[in-house]
Amino acid sequence: MTAIPLHNGSIPLIGFGTWRLRGDECRQAVETALECGYRHIDTAAAYENQPAVGAALRAGIVPRSDLFLTTKVGPDRLRHDDVLKAAEDALRELGTDYLDLFLIHWPNADVSMAATFAAMARLIDEGAIRNCGVSNFTAGRLAEAAALGVAPISVNQVEYHPHLNQKGLHRACREMGVALTSYSPFAKGRIPLDVRLAEVGARYGRSPHQVALRWLFQRGIPAIPKAAGIGHIRENLGVADWALSEDDFAVIDNLGHWDRLLPWEGSGPCDQADNG
Ligand SMILES: NC(=O)c1ccc[n+]([C@@H]2O[C@H](COP(=O)([O-])OP(=O)(O)OC[C@H]3O[C@@H](n4cnc5c(N)ncnc54)[C@H](OP(=O)(O)O)[C@@H]3O)[C@@H](O)[C@H]2O)c1
Repeated sequence: MTAIPLHNGSIPLIGFGTWRLRGDECRQAVETALECGYRHIDTAAAYENQPAVGAALRAGIVPRSDLFLTTKVGPDRLRHDDVLKAAEDALRELGTDYLDLFLIHWPNADVSMAATFAAMARLIDEGAIRNCGVSNFTAGRLAEAAALGVAPISVNQVEYHPHLNQKGLHRACREMGVALTSYSPFAKGRIPLDVRLAEVGARYGRSPHQVALRWLFQRGIPAIPKAAGIGHIRENLGVADWALSEDDFAVIDNLGHWDRLLPWEGSGPCDQADNG
């Protein structure tokens, strides 16, 4: 299996993250990723690179129908009409007539989630987006959003890597029919410094980065690593043609490390509760 089914279509298990890539560097990196075989691109209004991603898509390397394109609306634009306008802006900047996935980038407790999801439902009805979802939602907030029943929630994109193995949240997402997606799968470079990943990788002739991605792959979690140059871009695609043994999977799955890079509501010393 190389993709996870969503309410509408499916999300490839390996995608390409674009945070901090801008302008020509971004366009070039996305074009390289498409040439190397990525078919899933992750961006956001906040990354200020939608026009550059759009320029790469317009290079015509891959037909639009073969691509899975995600972008996100920021927490300051979650009121009903603002969401509609944010989608319109994203479509224009990306130069496409639909998004495969439109995410609420971060929750905003001051805005009614019902209003936000009503706008998402309208965008789905109009064909402007194929799936809607959330990002940085705890299990509790996700359950609240799902209980509204206003729009089907396909994805919760959260920080997830071997040093932040949020098993409890992953389980809760599965139970709600929501695909958890991993952002920052390398914890911005900290993961590869963990000698335990290097030791496991050495047994397969794989890098620590590939071990982290393969572990997510076997967990059934789509990951969106960011890389700037062709070396890293190619290396991160090398996850589908090998497998971690049960024992090695268990080593990574039980590192017992809890290191959150991006703090979110409720995060702190007790953040790990209910993670069995
Ligand atoms: N929803 C959210 O709130 C949220 C938050 C954070 C991130 N994201 C998404 O998730 C994506 C990935 O997360 P991230 O950008 O934080 O970090 P990341 O993917 O965990 O790590 C990126 C870093 O790893 C390096 N790297 C990548 N592949 C490598 C390899 N094979 N060998 C050695 N180094 C390698 C990159 O270097 P080079 O660039 O030099 O290749 C870069 O410094 C973002 O780009 C964004 O799309 C979403």
